[in-house]
Amino acid sequence: MSSVKKVAVIVGSLRAESKTRLLAKAIIAEAPENLSFDFVEIGELALYNEDLETDTPPAAWTGFRKQISEADAVLFVTPEYNRSVPGALKNAIDVGSRPYGKAAYSGKPAAIVTASPGGIGGFGANHHLRQSLVFLNMPVLQQPEAYIGGLWEMFDEAGNVKSEDTRKFLKTIANGFSDLIKRTYHDLG
Ligand code: FNR
Repeated sequence: MSSVKKVAVIVGSLRAESKTRLLAKAIIAEAPENLSFDFVEIGELALYNEDLETDTPPAAWTGFRKQISEADAVLFVTPEYNRSVPGALKNAIDVGSRPYGKAAYSGKPAAIVTASPGGIGGFGANHHLRQSLVFLNMPVLQQPEAYIGGLWEMFDEAGNVKSEDTRKFLKTIANGFSDLIKRTYHDLG
């Protein structure tokens, strides 16, 4: 039997009523039992500044780096801001990438799910984030690609996904990510 792998979940939106956060929860609900999930919050991370990279960096940075280090994999679920990644998420990438040579993200399998109220589904954010993850040496889920459109109509008042087809697609993403994690840790069979 496969061992349970820990997935850190990073949501690119900070707002309390974030639809993207609902989307992250919907993906988790479809995930197989060999994955466990913990949301890692990014809203309190000071903006990255190398001057703060001393023997005593900000406590929020240290806590964040520890949470990412202790995870086996990272799931990014984010909206697109101005055809790119929200600044808070880019900051979380930068904070977790240092000190140089000690990136908390390094080598961990990742999945990127972007979403948008419109039809493009955050394509620009998705691929900008992929560019950063190449540098961080993270194997990223390639297929299925996850550009989720119609974000504002996706959920009912209880926060459940309304469309059965969408729910099935989210399951495909979760299963694909699980397979990538198994392959990465040579955990198949
Ligand atoms: C947006 N939004 C947006 N949407 C999009 O599809 N492409 C874009 O480039 C942008 N740019 C953008 C910039 C800024 C500063 C904001 C605040 C919003 C709209 C965005 O997708 C929408 O607000 C989502 O609902 C945000 O996700 P949450 O907060 O609901 O998770």
